[in-house]
Amino acid sequence: MGKDDAILNQFKEDQSGAAEVDTSKRMRIGIIGTGWIADAHIKSYLKMPDVDIVAGADLVPGKAKKFFEKWGVENVKCYESHQAMLDDESLKLDAVSVCTYNCQHAAPTIYALGKGIHVLLEKPMCVTTEEAVEIMKAEKASGKVLSIGFQPRLDANMQKIKEIVESGVLGKIYYIQTGGGRRRGIPTPFGTTFIDKNTGGIGALGDIGCYSLDMVLNAIGYPKPLTVSGYKSDFFGKSEKTYPKHPEYAKVFGVDDFAAAFVRLEGDIILDFRIAWAMNMDTPGDTIILGTEGGLRIPSTECWNGTVGGPMKIYHEVAGMQVETEIPIIKAKDGAPSLFDMKIRSFLDACKNGTPAPVPTSQIIYNQAILDGIAKSSEKGCEIKIEIPEI
Ligand SMILES: NC(=O)c1ccc[n+]([C@@H]2O[C@H](COP(=O)([O-])OP(=O)(O)OC[C@H]3O[C@@H](n4cnc5c(N)ncnc54)[C@H](O)[C@@H]3O)[C@@H](O)[C@H]2O)c1
Repeated sequence: MGKDDAILNQFKEDQSGAAEVDTSKRMRIGIIGTGWIADAHIKSYLKMPDVDIVAGADLVPGKAKKFFEKWGVENVKCYESHQAMLDDESLKLDAVSVCTYNCQHAAPTIYALGKGIHVLLEKPMCVTTEEAVEIMKAEKASGKVLSIGFQPRLDANMQKIKEIVESGVLGKIYYIQTGGGRRRGIPTPFGTTFIDKNTGGIGALGDIGCYSLDMVLNAIGYPKPLTVSGYKSDFFGKSEKTYPKHPEYAKVFGVDDFAAAFVRLEGDIILDFRIAWAMNMDTPGDTIILGTEGGLRIPSTECWNGTVGGPMKIYHEVAGMQVETEIPIIKAKDGAPSLFDMKIRSFLDACKNGTPAPVPTSQIIYNQAILDGIAKSSEKGCEIKIEIPEI
């Protein structure tokens, strides 16, 4: 590369670089729930130069201790409940990751905020709208940072969707079709916590539906949901055939494995949604966003790992011609931080700098209200109004 090329390339390359981390203020971290996703949290925390992992809690006796041994982290105090850990003031915790199953999202989060501790809460926010409201009340009273763990937000392709919408190239958005799913993919590799109503609370709806909702709602500025007509089913979850090695799981299954809904959003926007842990189809279709000036097609993805399924396309008109513009996939640079590293870093930065939560509850309450609205509408067998009290 010649000298002139190097000068010109400065305009092409990202000049921002990774921000310096202030290590003079260290963060004392605890992890609540040391199951599968806690691995991703600790892996990222261990890369952060300003973090001391000081405590962990899991309801299963000995599980937290084994978890920290596996990761080679020493001098960590372990507890068998979130209360015991959060009551121990000698820990001087600054922040916790809540990595428990869905039905145990609200209680530890509210308890931690009540103790003046920042919280990174895994997705979905919780199970019901009522719980989400209680969480937000605790957040407001505490003045602490509460961020919800939607790492796909940090993916450059996901961010491009929002940039496209905000550029105005699509005009006024009036219809969105979104969702995704798997032909077979009920999550039971580590037991039944996702499929038992008492632990998972909601099934595919909450587990992966929350991601596909966040993808489009974040892009269009999270308008308020008004009404929902929802459907859910459990044909695969309840069938012994689904679990050749564990037919007994069929009896435990108490959540949804498929859901669909027609949702009206503020601003005269219709959201047509479907999600599946299992179905006799490869994909329920691409995500499409229709606007008065253009339409965006986002190739189908499983919607849970932050990837767009292929180059997106904008369908629009130029000088009277109907044309398509391809938006190429943006690949992460070699050595770039993972989405999880970015999720943890952005949370820590918000706690240290007193800046807003990277993924705020003021948005995710609408996501939760739609999920819960779908479940409740399905149980009632009719359309329902979504009502969220003032917080
Ligand atoms: N962001 C992501 O990519 C991602 C991926 C997978 C799972 N998740 C979310 O993470 C959460 C946990 O999923 P998982 O796969 O790790 O589940 P898991 O069942 O493997 O682990 C949850 C653990 O929490 C413990 N626990 C429950 N309540 C507790 C309490 N009050 N105090 C202490 N420990 C408690 C359980 O004993 C269990 O060990 C779920 O809500 C899930 O939706 C997020």
